[in-house]
Amino acid sequence: MATVQVLPRGVHLAQGFLDRTKQEALRDSLRDAAARAPFYTPVMPRTGKPFSVRMTNCGPLGWVSDKAGYRYQPNHPVTGKPWPAIPEMLMTAWETLSQYPHPPQACLINYYAGNARMGLHRDEDEDDFNAPVVSLSLGNSCVFRIAQGEGRAPTVSLKLHSGDALVFGGPARRAYHGVDRILPDTSTLLKSGGRINITLRRVTFPEP
Ligand code: SIN
Ligand code: FE2
Repeated sequence: MATVQVLPRGVHLAQGFLDRTKQEALRDSLRDAAARAPFYTPVMPRTGKPFSVRMTNCGPLGWVSDKAGYRYQPNHPVTGKPWPAIPEMLMTAWETLSQYPHPPQACLINYYAGNARMGLHRDEDEDDFNAPVVSLSLGNSCVFRIAQGEGRAPTVSLKLHSGDALVFGGPARRAYHGVDRILPDTSTLLKSGGRINITLRRVTFPEP
């Protein structure tokens, strides 16, 4: 029997949003972006504890974390260079999925090696919460968890597979979410294994 999963209000899952050919094209354009803006290991505010996830960004604003805190900035924290442009495919994905009339400003690229994870957190370093967060997955599947309401509400777990798109906006825009684990050998897309997640976000309010 088919399983039906009820997602929290404001959460939309488009399974197989990118077919294999598109996943390969996106993987290759991210490889080009990472050649210019290398993945680095961010550290937690205050404690300086390294993340298990490696990160880089595209777009006018990149999300960074260091001992001073979380923020958006126009430059790579290691090279000092501006982030590369958001790949065209991702701009198109945003248009299709966000239902928001302004382009994304931030494109965070997370790389999860085998045992990397991400603790429950809210995306709340943006000013404009009217736009949703659009998230795309490539490579190995993961167990993703998102709260069913505001604050520390109970969570639901879902598997995200290569090519899936997840959109969380409206009542779910500031829902707690995280990645419990990566499921090994569930995709052949990334030669090195692991998982890539891309999140597209609007940061500032659009100019009136
Ligand atoms: C994130 O919340 O930044 C990442 C979510 C994911 O990897 O699916
Ligand atoms: Fe997040």
